[in-house]
Amino acid sequence: MADIRPILFFDSGVGGLSIVAPARAALPRAPFVYVADSAGFPYGTRDEADIAARVPVLLGRLAERYRPRLIVIACNTASTIALPAVRAALDLPVVGTVPAIKPAAAMSKTRTIGVLGTDATVRQAYVDDLAARFASDCTVLRHGSAALVELAEAKLRGEAPVAGAFAAVLDGLLGQPGGEAIDVVVNACTHFPLVEAELAAAATRPLRFVDGGEGIARRIVALTQGQDWPDAPTAGVAVFTRLGEREAALAPALTGRGFPWIEPL
Ligand code: DGL
Repeated sequence: MADIRPILFFDSGVGGLSIVAPARAALPRAPFVYVADSAGFPYGTRDEADIAARVPVLLGRLAERYRPRLIVIACNTASTIALPAVRAALDLPVVGTVPAIKPAAAMSKTRTIGVLGTDATVRQAYVDDLAARFASDCTVLRHGSAALVELAEAKLRGEAPVAGAFAAVLDGLLGQPGGEAIDVVVNACTHFPLVEAELAAAATRPLRFVDGGEGIARRIVALTQGQDWPDAPTAGVAVFTRLGEREAALAPALTGRGFPWIEPL
């Protein structure tokens, strides 16, 4: 019998859609629920205790409501702060999103890597640990940008960016002492791959960007190996914890990414 249980993707906003895309390519018949905690957005400027308290409770409610087979925390900020607590609270597989420092270290020729994330992510000990384990022979420079999260949300609402906005974000990373040697940039916030083309266009020299999307798709495939899926692709459901005008403006972008149905939690 077809198993209709969905895979639930969770982020503060639309960033997790960058994780959905490779997962959908890998599992075209998998039913998806996409949850944006718009009432808690943005996460990147909140403090750790707040996120650690909020995310497990919310995911518990969502697991009861949507009965997913697997949850993907498609948010670096929530994953680097709350992944162990979520796993302890829920009795189903939970995949997290952590900065792709390991593949970046494998790619870098200059041995200088840039990590672009939210303010909350770039200050996490989790990032120090990844850098020590996988990039110990690299200089790892970091920059937290709340502005880039807003630029990604605005793009998906169909709004035009202010001139120079992407260049200013990049300058925060590349303009640091030693930043001129960066050749690989880790998109350590799931919002950022959504504006990777704009970042690349704003750069004054070629940069390579890397994120966790492909790795997460492979992990979902491995964890659902042998499970059944509906016979044909099903329309996805997008869920917002606050559904106002800003969220309604995302409808065309969500429909275009396989989520024609929007509902409040
Ligand atoms: N998309 C989220 C991340 O990957 C956070 C964006 C935000 O709410 O600040 O970190």
